[in-house]
Amino acid sequence: MEIKKYTFDNLIGENADFVKLIKNAKKAANSNSSVFISGETGTGKELIAQSIHFASDRQDRPFIAQNCAALPENLLEGILFGTVKGSYTGAVDREGLFEQAEGGTLLLDEISVMPYDLQGKLLRVLQEDYVRRVGGMNDIPIDVRIMATINEPIHQLLQYGRLRKDLFYRINIIGLEAMPLRERLDDIEVLADFFLKKHNRKNNKQIWRITKEAKEKLKRYDYPGNIRELENIIMSAVSMATDEHKLTVEDIRIQENLDHIDAPVLREFIRSKKSLNDFVGEIENDIIKETLKTNDGNVSKTAEALGMKRQTLQHKLRKANRK
Ligand SMILES: Nc1ncnc2c1ncn2[C@@H]1O[C@H](COP(=O)(O)OP(=O)(O)OP(=O)(O)O)[C@@H](O)[C@H]1O
Ligand SMILES: [Mg+2]
Repeated sequence: MEIKKYTFDNLIGENADFVKLIKNAKKAANSNSSVFISGETGTGKELIAQSIHFASDRQDRPFIAQNCAALPENLLEGILFGTVKGSYTGAVDREGLFEQAEGGTLLLDEISVMPYDLQGKLLRVLQEDYVRRVGGMNDIPIDVRIMATINEPIHQLLQYGRLRKDLFYRINIIGLEAMPLRERLDDIEVLADFFLKKHNRKNNKQIWRITKEAKEKLKRYDYPGNIRELENIIMSAVSMATDEHKLTVEDIRIQENLDHIDAPVLREFIRSKKSLNDFVGEIENDIIKETLKTNDGNVSKTAEALGMKRQTLQHKLRKANRK
């Protein structure tokens, strides 16, 4: 768990909605309530979470971030709540993240990936303010501020039942939405200049400006990877720049513009950077979920509508649930 100490000073942007977001985040720093941050990848969710923590009363206590997608689900419970020796083969006495974060903040990234049952257990911990280690008998009182993030639109997660509504409402006391960069195009220049300075310093370079054409090029792009992607583009431009003192349009290496490709699905596929298998699998899951919904969850009717055998559908549903 690598910790970089980010504060509000690191959050750059002048766009009106962004300024409002930061204002609300600063209010959150004066409170003790849970925080729910939604936003696509690279929009600054972690930065916001850390900034809130390090501006809050808890700043001298731990800030711990755990990505729920990074661990096999059978380990996640023990990691969060701790384990007791002998509770399962190989289990040792170990405190979980809740105990480690005592007095501080625990950020649960991609909380929607957490298995449904575990989401229920988490809710109980948040409601009762104590944890019980896996296999343990004692209730351990905890004082931990919870923050959670999601990368997908909240209504989708709630609709598909990937995030428990009760858990969402419990954490979403303060709700913050980090907007994608394409919705704050007016900040591209400010951010690009900021990253230029930062990477100039890091690389001992003397590149003082970005040419007008280079800026135009930066503004024409839609940044599926958001601010992280913009930073990477500037970082690589700085290290590869041909001119000693300016970044030119040739230095800005942006993934080819895909607008000339007629088929939207192909554009989406290329942008996703996923394998064909994963991409098609996700579309398949979406279609199955939607069809299930229109058939009120009836598996036989859904299978018929999809032109597949009931067993095949059940197999696919089980597989999707395990993901
Ligand atoms: N407002 C901002 N000002 C300056 N830099 C920013 C801002 N927002 C994001 N960044 C930069 O973008 C990078 C990604 O931010 P962060 O890790 O907070 O994104 P995230 O939303 O948590 O992404 P993911 O969903 O992929 O975890 C950071 O390392 C930081 O350099
Ligand atoms: Mg993150």
